[in-house]
Amino acid sequence: MSKFSVARLGALAVLCWVGLFATAPASAQTSGDAARGERLAYTCLGCHGIPNYKNAYPVYRVPKLRGQSAEYLVSALQAYRSGERSHGTMHANASSLNDQDILDVAAYLAGPAVKPAADAKPVGTPPAAAAVCVSCHGTDGIGITPQYPSLAGQHDDYLVRALTDYKKGGRKNAIMAGFAAQLTANDIDQLAAYYSRQRSVLAAIPKNAFGKR
Ligand code: HEC
Ligand code: HEC
Repeated sequence: MSKFSVARLGALAVLCWVGLFATAPASAQTSGDAARGERLAYTCLGCHGIPNYKNAYPVYRVPKLRGQSAEYLVSALQAYRSGERSHGTMHANASSLNDQDILDVAAYLAGPAVKPAADAKPVGTPPAAAAVCVSCHGTDGIGITPQYPSLAGQHDDYLVRALTDYKKGGRKNAIMAGFAAQLTANDIDQLAAYYSRQRSVLAAIPKNAFGKR
């Protein structure tokens, strides 16, 4: 067993332990097998393994995935598969994966857990519209729990695209649809510019990691 999966099992044990004492029922999600996920994710690297690779029509850069939590990546993939997020290519990619595949791929893509620095200071001044965002995405753009995506260092054009999709219905997530509905196009530009210039915790999937097994 690799050091990485031992670390993940440790994290899972803590989560289960916490789950025992939480009032809400803990979700029954098991952890993924990153080594198996690495093999399954080979086709994904054609886009997510190339820094600054662009989606066409409309043109925006594909999101950085390394550094997001596995939990978030699982829910994003489920959303493309179910059509909650509409994107043709990602719907096709996610539809090729069963539930176990999604757990495994997410474990690989996420990589080692990102720990927010204790002394992290935001870069620049957050725009006024960020006041409601920080309780979930942090002032420095690092998701405060694994359910909330990190935005720090994500491509600004992708953030604009995602927020516009929540606002216009291309993404139907109930939480984000409500917040995005309040934003003007100008707010969206400012929020994307602010979060994309925070100290990045995200990256394209490093290709040199492939084949190291
Ligand atoms: C042809 C390029 C392409 C390929 C191949 C591809 N993706 Fe994507 N992926 C994208 C684009 C573009 C988006 C953003 C879609 C949108 O606007 O919602 C995306 C979004 C995602 C997201 C959401 C990230 C976030 O921050 O919410 C995940 C997770 C993801 N892809 C995983 C995968 C996996 C796993 C595979 C392989 C099974 C894969 N992708 C293959 C282009 C690609
Ligand atoms: C109550 C918690 C909460 C608040 C407040 C919140 N978000 Fe989110 N945000 C989420 C969740 C949960 C998701 C994942 C939704 C999904 O699965 O599509 C998300 C997703 C996103 C994404 C997509 C990230 C990606 O990688 O695709 C962006 C961008 C975003 N939020 C920006 C914002 C901004 C800007 C605000 C303030 C206007 C905000 N959020 C307020 C919880 C929150």
